[in-house]
Amino acid sequence: MLVSSLLDIFKSNPNEYLSGTKLSELLGVSRTAIWKQIRKLEAEGYEFEASTKLGYKLMMHPSSLDRDLIAKQLHTKTFGQQINVYPAVDSTQNVAREAAEQGAPEGTLFIAEQQLSGRGRMGRQWVSPAGKGIYLSMILRPNVAIPFAPQLTLLTAVALCRSLRTITALPIGIKWPNDLLIGQQKISGILLESATEDTRIKYIIAGIGISVNLTEKDYTEQLLVKATSLRLAAGKPFDRATIVGQFLLEWEQLYESYLAAGFQAIIPIWEALSVSLGKPTTITTHNETIVATPIGLDESGAIRIQLEDGSERAIFSAEMGQPNIKK
Ligand code: BTN
Repeated sequence: MLVSSLLDIFKSNPNEYLSGTKLSELLGVSRTAIWKQIRKLEAEGYEFEASTKLGYKLMMHPSSLDRDLIAKQLHTKTFGQQINVYPAVDSTQNVAREAAEQGAPEGTLFIAEQQLSGRGRMGRQWVSPAGKGIYLSMILRPNVAIPFAPQLTLLTAVALCRSLRTITALPIGIKWPNDLLIGQQKISGILLESATEDTRIKYIIAGIGISVNLTEKDYTEQLLVKATSLRLAAGKPFDRATIVGQFLLEWEQLYESYLAAGFQAIIPIWEALSVSLGKPTTITTHNETIVATPIGLDESGAIRIQLEDGSERAIFSAEMGQPNIKK
């Protein structure tokens, strides 16, 4: 109750500082109570500028991601035709997996305003503050054999990179296998988790995290070196529903062409968007770390690398260091 009255006061006084004393008088509560409500709003994605002399100014309020808002931006046939939006979940991967096990169809979308235990590759955490990023998982049911699953990661990275470039005009590139970077900083990540049956894929839960409107405050100092948001990179916020709509459209089109014609056509598009190719880097597989230069994708989706002795290898799964290490 108090929080919505507080918001109403800020909204009817746009671009104005309101002092703690004035707010506490207007609402008939203590200044500490006001301060607590402001912290609560910040946790939901609202941003305030605080001045010791002037008080608080509302800088940004998150446009919440509801189903209708997303549906208005959708021009797809299957992807996102069923949308489930959550204010907060542990991980959208988990709710999507439960639904997939219950038989939810391909294209069912799970999207959360906040994740309490968002996860990335290699057991890492995915920073998922409320109202600022896009945290989505979608069910895919491709009729393909298990070894082809990595191709879907590469395809998803292409769709994501293209759509984010279209909307933001930022120089976003793909670092193999599935990171999207601006310069050396990560902007988005993809996590594909699959369930299999005999030799085929039963379903894939494709999880995408996009750091859209996060600010410096949302990252630890350590993470801020390696990660950024579209807002920090462009100097302006972006509408999350528009991004979801554009991404799902590009993703569905590529996925359809992949199912009809195979991976071949994706290779040159991926290579053109890659920031890894031609630059020596470290590559850590399950049993070794080597220095090598990625030179392209092979037909299966493995990355072809050239070692320092000139020999070549194809690698399916590894962790790649930052490109351009000093030799
Ligand atoms: C990575 O780069 O390591 C992958 C990050 C994937 C994050 C997304 S956010 C939505 C979905 N839910 C999760 O818990 N993880 C993925």
